[in-house]
Order: sequence, then structure tokens, then C-alpha cells
Amino acid sequence: MESAVRIKASDIHIEQDGDFMRIRFRIDGLLREHMKTSAKPYKAVVSRIKIMAGLNISEKRLPQDGRIIQNIDNKSIDFRVSTMPTSKDEKVVMRVLDKASFMVGKHGLGLNDDNIKAYDELLSKPYGLILVVGPTGSGKTTTLYSMLNQLNSVEQNILTIEDPIEYELEGINQSQINVKAGLDFANALRAFMRQDPDIIMVGEIRDLNTAEIAIRASLTGHLVLSTLHANTSIGAISRLIDMNVASYLITSSVIGVVSQRLVRKLCDDCKEPYNAELGEKQALGCLANEEVTLYKTVGCPRCGNQGYKGRIGVYEFLMMNKEIRNLINSGAKEDEILEMAKQHGMQVLKDDAVRKVLDGTTTIEEMLKVTFTAQ
Ligand SMILES: Nc1ncnc2c1ncn2[C@@H]1O[C@H](COP(=O)(O)OP(=O)(O)OP(=O)(O)O)[C@@H](O)[C@H]1O
Ligand SMILES: [Mg+2]
Ligand SMILES: [Zn+2]
Repeated sequence: MESAVRIKASDIHIEQDGDFMRIRFRIDGLLREHMKTSAKPYKAVVSRIKIMAGLNISEKRLPQDGRIIQNIDNKSIDFRVSTMPTSKDEKVVMRVLDKASFMVGKHGLGLNDDNIKAYDELLSKPYGLILVVGPTGSGKTTTLYSMLNQLNSVEQNILTIEDPIEYELEGINQSQINVKAGLDFANALRAFMRQDPDIIMVGEIRDLNTAEIAIRASLTGHLVLSTLHANTSIGAISRLIDMNVASYLITSSVIGVVSQRLVRKLCDDCKEPYNAELGEKQALGCLANEEVTLYKTVGCPRCGNQGYKGRIGVYEFLMMNKEIRNLINSGAKEDEILEMAKQHGMQVLKDDAVRKVLDGTTTIEEMLKVTFTAQ
């Protein structure tokens, strides 16, 4: 657990693989083997972790969730533990919640100057719904927390309903959903309305009921922040329509949608410059006769020979305006909305990724992963 924290792993996987016990770490989004050893102590290791996490060690047939808080290098680190019975044994996965990593602030996220302006503009609105979308692990919660941190002030009553609370923000009233006890996103939101709120964060909009209450809250003078499962910013609008939210409700409440991904950053200690090939220039939208310097991965001890170290966000901001509202209300297709948004200066995920390749932050390979999942 100490090694995982020091190497900045986000997850620890412990599993039995034949005669071996294998431990893998997820670092910058990819799993890497950390240790492979005899399977003999496997059961004892799993039992020990279950005891530490407050789980029932005799229950081996059902999945369990728990948590372990450890003090590592003078920081309190929260490990969310999940056990899952498999055909061989029980697999354990621990999510490492290093609270400091959530508090990056807008300048640490990787927003380019245009996107910082859009970000500040959204947060300066008195009311409306701001959505952050992207696949699992794309940094949505980190963006929401940095927004809340920027909005945080004594003059505002800020309430959140989360699943789970990943970081405790000072001065903000955070609640955790508790399905067993009957507290879900929708009824927490309903109760929030009697708590004299100014700003509300809803961990995720998963159903029509939650969507409608969140929209109602945003229409009655509150700033509401949430996430949604969608691949692109305009896809978020389609997702709400698919949930059966009336389009006039969407257009009157949504003030902006942020879509995002994370890309791996080239290791500054070993990356090497080279001249881009023709195909690469085309992929980046550069002219064929332009001289374009890109960087490639090499690998050194500082980056564990990966050539990459750390990650950075790639963002797309859809800012609602009259023309886009009209298009959505008239049932326009995503392509038409996208065209209109581009005319108003929207940079899509790919544009931001291209910038980050051209300035030597990341590689074409990382950019292609973003564009592949942003269709
Ligand atoms: N802008 C960023 N730059 C670098 N790392 C980031 C950034 N945003 C998030 N991360 C890191 O990526 C990981 C995933 O982030 P986060 O939990 O915010 O994603 P998420 O989209 O909310 O995930 P989930 O779908 O599981 O809710 C965390 O380890 C976080 O510290
Ligand atoms: Mg999250
Ligand atoms: Zn390196």
C-alpha cells in the first residue's frame, strides 16, 4: 500500500493466478505488474485486508466493500476495498484515494487559456445546470471538485450528494447516498430544496427523476453541477433527450457542458524531439510542407521506463447560446448542433488534444485514443 501511494497508483489489484499471487498497480490509467510471488500466502493476505477494511472474513461467496484509512508519509490515505468471488478465489481491488490529487485547481487540470475563460464564465453564472461528461476515470469528479473549490465562500450554501464522497471539502456540506437506507440522488435533491441552497452538486444524473429535479433546482435560481454518462458534450444533450427530458427543459437549464478525457504526459526527463512525418502532420491538421517538431517516448528510471509520467486533462466546452437552444428545441441532429457550436468557437476534444501534441505535452498515440472515443 505504501509502494502504491509513493508511485501514485490509482488502484491495487491482488489476485491469484495459478500457483502465483500477483499484485498489479494501475498507474496513469494502465495496469502494471508490481509483484508476482507464490500463491501460498494468498488466503492470509486476503483475510488480513478484509479485517483491515472491516469486512466479514468468513463471507467468501459474495462481493463486499469496505475502506481502510492509512497514514502514509504523513498523509491520510483512503483505500476503498472491493472483494469479488471469482472461479479461483476472491479478487481484491483497492482504489487509492489520495485526497491531495483531487485538489488540483483549475490551473492544474490542464485547461488551455480559452477553456479557462469558458470555465470561469460558467462558474460566474447565478444559476443553471453545468454538466461534466466523459467515460469512467476521465477526471470528472476532479473537475467538479475544482469547480466547487472555486465557488466555495461563506456567502454560499453549497450542498453535494455523492456516491461516494471522495474528498472532504472544507466549508461544503457533503452527503453520501445510502441506497440501503433509502437515500438516493433524487430524494437527497428534493431534501436539498428545503436546505436553502445556493449551489448543488449531484454526483451523477442516472435517471429521468434525478434529471428533472436537478433541472428544476437550476431553474429556480440555483447553480447545479453534475456528471452524466456521455462521450461528447453534445452527446450529453442527446443523453438527456433519451432519458425523456423535454427539450425545452434542457435548453432552459443547461448553461454549459464540459466533455473530457485524460492523456498521458510525456516524461520531461527523457522525451526526444523528431520531425513529424506527412501522415502525422495530416492527423494534426498541419500543412504538408510545414516543419513540425513532435516528441516521442524514450523511457528512463524517472518514468519507470514508460516514456510517460503523469496525466493531463483534454477538454471541450459546449457553451449554450440562443442558436444552439433553437436547434435543440427544433430536434436538430448532433451534427448540426456541433456545426453551430464550432461557428461560435467551440474547440472539440481533438482540437485541445492537438494543441497538447504540438506543444510537446503528449504524443499522437495519446491524441488518437482521445479522438477514437470521442465519436
Ligand atoms: N486533469 C487531470 N490531470 C491529471 N490527473 C487527473 C486529472 N483529473 C483527474 N485526474 C486523476 O485521474 C483519476 C480519475 O479521476 P476522477 O476520479 O476525477 O475521474 P472520474 O471521471 O470522476 O472517474 P469515475 O468515472 O470513476 O467517477 C484520479 O486519480 C485523478 O487524480
Ligand atoms: Mg467520479
Ligand atoms: Zn522518462
